[in-house]
Amino acid sequence: MKKKANTAVDIHPLISERWSPRSFDATAELSVPDLTGIMEAARWAPSSMNSQPWRFVIARRGDAHFATLIDTMSGFNKVWAPRASALIMVLADTTDQSGEPRIGALYDAGLAASLLTVEAHHRGLVVHQIGGFEHAQAVAAFNLPANLTPIVILAVGKQAPADALGEATLVEREIADRVRKPLDELIVGGSL
Ligand SMILES: Cc1cc2nc3c(=O)[nH]c(=O)nc-3n(C[C@H](O)[C@H](O)[C@H](O)COP(=O)(O)O)c2cc1C
Repeated sequence: MKKKANTAVDIHPLISERWSPRSFDATAELSVPDLTGIMEAARWAPSSMNSQPWRFVIARRGDAHFATLIDTMSGFNKVWAPRASALIMVLADTTDQSGEPRIGALYDAGLAASLLTVEAHHRGLVVHQIGGFEHAQAVAAFNLPANLTPIVILAVGKQAPADALGEATLVEREIADRVRKPLDELIVGGSL
């Protein structure tokens, strides 16, 4: 199912056609070239002072990391995310070499996740970001050092039809229109 954004002017289809489905094909596997491609896209994101503070945990459906990440998820995320081909937890290294806080780390890691998402879409994959997970549980499960902060888990895979979700509320959300605030609400200084 496609859900093209309703934009004021045409923008690149990789952006207007990207959206966040929850219905994943539970039989699809993520190939090594596709996984490598999306990770390369993340690697080449810009970052403050080229600090590249993004870090990742990669899990494939069926492996131990995958089960661990699903276990950290809250609410309905636990229902739909298990059908993704892979889960990628995005973390930020929040301190520099001298132990000083890296204030841009979360922003930089978000940029990396964003580019990963666009590359995934270009490869015919879909990505759904998951903020609803127990961060402390993830830290403990992966024995993460204090400088690494989990931010989001990306569910990556092949899209399946909406009704494959089964649960009525999930199907409703899947087929609902995509909405955004109008541009003039976002521009708090200057004008188009
Ligand atoms: C940081 C972040 C956390 C999110 N957490 C969740 C989540 O826990 N569960 C979920 O179903 N969707 C989650 N989403 C997906 C958003 O709800 C979705 O991106 C938003 O509604 C816009 O929809 P679109 O991506 O299809 O345009 C998250 C998105 C982001 C960026």
